[in-house]
Amino acid sequence: DKAGHKHFMAKEIAEQPQVIGEAVNHYLPAGGDAVVLPGEGIDFSRVERLTMVACGTAFYACLTAKYWFEQLARLPVEVDIASEFRYREPPVSPGTLALFVSQSGETADTLAALRYCQDKAAQIVSVVNVPESSIARESDLALPIHAGVEIGVASTKAFTCQLSVLLMLALKAAADRGTISPEERADRIADLRGLPQAINAALDRNDEIRAAAQRLSEARDVLFLGRGAMYPLALEGALKLKEISYIHAEGYASGELKHGPIALIDKQMPVVVMAPHDDLFDKTVSNMQEVMARKGKVVLISDEAGIAEAQEGTWATVRMPAIHPLLAPILYAVPAQLLAYHAAVAKGTDVDQPRNLAKSVTVE
Ligand code: F6R
Repeated sequence: DKAGHKHFMAKEIAEQPQVIGEAVNHYLPAGGDAVVLPGEGIDFSRVERLTMVACGTAFYACLTAKYWFEQLARLPVEVDIASEFRYREPPVSPGTLALFVSQSGETADTLAALRYCQDKAAQIVSVVNVPESSIARESDLALPIHAGVEIGVASTKAFTCQLSVLLMLALKAAADRGTISPEERADRIADLRGLPQAINAALDRNDEIRAAAQRLSEARDVLFLGRGAMYPLALEGALKLKEISYIHAEGYASGELKHGPIALIDKQMPVVVMAPHDDLFDKTVSNMQEVMARKGKVVLISDEAGIAEAQEGTWATVRMPAIHPLLAPILYAVPAQLLAYHAAVAKGTDVDQPRNLAKSVTVE
C-alpha cells in the first residue's frame, strides 16, 4: 500500500520523520539521558578498534559513522566493502569490535564477512532492519533500526535510520570512553530528539528540489561533492541517482576535485554540492568557484547562512534548516534522495523496480 504516494520510494522518503523518531526513542528512552542497548550491550571502553563492513548504501552509512566514532569517541575505525573484506582476509585483532550494517540482513558478502570475523573479533554486532535475518541471528548483538518494511529497491529510510542508530552508538562510545562532556552529550541527544522535526522541514523543500531535479534529469553525467562527513553522502547521492534515473553520477570528496575530476567540468556538467555552513564551508565554496569558472552548473544544497554567502553564480539552490554539523549527513540525505527520485520521475523510469537490481543480494 503506497498510502497515496505514486511510488513506494516516495512513501518511504516521507516516512522518515516517523521512523527516525521511533529509532531515536528506542535507543534513547524518554526521560533518560543515556543511549540504552539491548541484551549484553557494548562496553566501548574495552574496544581497541572498530571494523565496519557492509555493501552499497549501508557501506556509505558506515563511512559516515567513521567520522562520528573518530571525532566523538577517538576510536580507530576501519570501514570496508564486504566483497573486498571477505576475500582479503585481513588480520582482525582480539580487541576489535566487528560491526556489520545491512538493511535486509541477508546480503551474501556481508554475511560471509561476519562469519570470517566470528572466531577473531571480541564481539560481533549488527545493525539491521530485519531482526529475524541471518546476519542478526549470527551476531552476538543485533541492533534493529526500526525503519519498518522497505519495499523500494533504492534504500532511503533504512539509510537514515542506520545513520541515526550509528550516531547514537558513537555517542555511547564517547560516554564509555570519557571523550565527551556531559553538556555536549546532552546537547547532541537533544539534537537527535529534534531530528524528526528537522527532517520534516527538509521534506518541505520538495518543490525546490523537484525543480533542481528536473534540470538534472537532462544531464548525461552529474558530479556530487562533499567534505568531511558530507563526503560519504556525496557518494550516496550519486549512487541513488544512477540506480533509479540511470544518469551517470560520481561522488567525490571536494578536495579531490583538482586531482582529476575537474577535467570533466564543462557547461554540460551539473555539480551537486552538499555543504552546510560549517567549519569546512569556505573550502567547499572555493571548490565550487573552480567549477563555476569552468562553466559547470552548481546545485548548492546548504542552509540559510551558506546560501546567503555563496549562492551567486549557482544554477540552483536547495535550502535546508540549520543543524549541528554532526547531524547534517542525516538531514541532507533527504534532498539527495528527492533529487534522485524526481529526476527518475522526470525521465519516466521504473522508480521502485530499477532495471537489473534486486532488493536483497543473496548471491555474490
Ligand atoms: C542502494 C541499495 C543497495 C544496498 C546494498 C546492501 O539503494 O539499496 O546498495 O544498500 O545492496 O543491502 P543490505 O543493506 O540489505 O545489506
